Amino acid sequence: MDPTGKPNPVVLGIESSCDESAVALVAADRTIIAQAIASQDEAHRPYGGVVPEIAARAHVEVLGPMVERVLEEAGMTLADVDAIAATAGPGLIGGVMVGLVTAKALAMAGDRPLISINHLEGHALSPRLADASLEFPYLLLLASGGHCQILEVRGVGDYRRIATTIDDALGEAFDKTAKILGLGYPGGPAVERLAETGDAKAVPLPRPLAGSAEPHFSFAGLKSAVLRAQQSGKYAAADIAASFQQAALDCVLDRTRRALEGAGAVGALVVAGGVAANKPLRAALEDFAAERGLRFVAPPMKLCTDNAAMIAWAGQERLAAGLVPEGGDPLDIAARPRWPLDPDAEPVRGAGVKA
Ligand code: KG4
Ligand code: ZN
Repeated sequence: MDPTGKPNPVVLGIESSCDESAVALVAADRTIIAQAIASQDEAHRPYGGVVPEIAARAHVEVLGPMVERVLEEAGMTLADVDAIAATAGPGLIGGVMVGLVTAKALAMAGDRPLISINHLEGHALSPRLADASLEFPYLLLLASGGHCQILEVRGVGDYRRIATTIDDALGEAFDKTAKILGLGYPGGPAVERLAETGDAKAVPLPRPLAGSAEPHFSFAGLKSAVLRAQQSGKYAAADIAASFQQAALDCVLDRTRRALEGAGAVGALVVAGGVAANKPLRAALEDFAAERGLRFVAPPMKLCTDNAAMIAWAGQERLAAGLVPEGGDPLDIAARPRWPLDPDAEPVRGAGVKA
């Protein structure tokens, strides 16, 4: 039973697991009533990456006022909210704690159920927020700066991790390539732009793990090869960018093909995470899906990158599936730096490095 007992409950979602502070109000009928997101890019830029302590402090400063602003924008008060959902992991623990404690305080003050959400579940279910016709089971490629996984999404709370990365995430590989080529941060869009003017066949680069039986990813060797190509002085930056992007794409297609063989029957191929913004990647996956008679679903970018609407929506899905205990999750529930979506997945070499 849905403990809110409302026909169209409203869930307030909070996300704070990395460098985005976000709050959203989402109704069960998929309306995103209001949302706010604050990126901390500027605060971390001088350090060339996310500094956990700075991230946690920034979440402390912005989350409270953000909740107020989102409620105000929606013309609502806490009394109009039926449940509070927050990311409880995996992620940078300081930030996760800030979001979770904010949610606990709201749940307590408003006497509303708390729903603790696995951030990866937020990503996994977000395509269903954008597309009501997307049914389980589907194959999900989740590729961002922090995650690189292929999941068989069988139902709410029922995920099988088919593949993960043994070293870097795909977005991380784009970011490192951008750094090597002096393109700045975040690197993905810059590499994609530069690649448009380059020759993808100019630089011989490896396709790590392509053809291997396990569908896992590896991008560390590709990054090293990009560095060597740059240092050799033999290639134009645009050619390196284009060759890198092609190699990364080839890896993703090869691994997705292998993952699909290992998955049960699925009706759709879904891509989420920041790297889903890459147009050649989307086009290649769309063709791949069409060849196999699968639907291809890529949610709008706002839902692909870290956001709170996906956390609120995961809360809605959990309520509807009867997975939220009467009165909500206990208020002493802990934030978790590591929290695998599929606890039965076998560990792989290097696992635990990436969420
Ligand atoms: O999901 P996201 O916003 O944040 C997390 O990492 O959780 O993903 C950001 C990642 C970065 O690594 C960024 O370089 C990559 O997504 N990215 C792209 C593109 N746009 C963003 N990678 C390749 N091509 C793009 N157009
Ligand atoms: Zn994420």
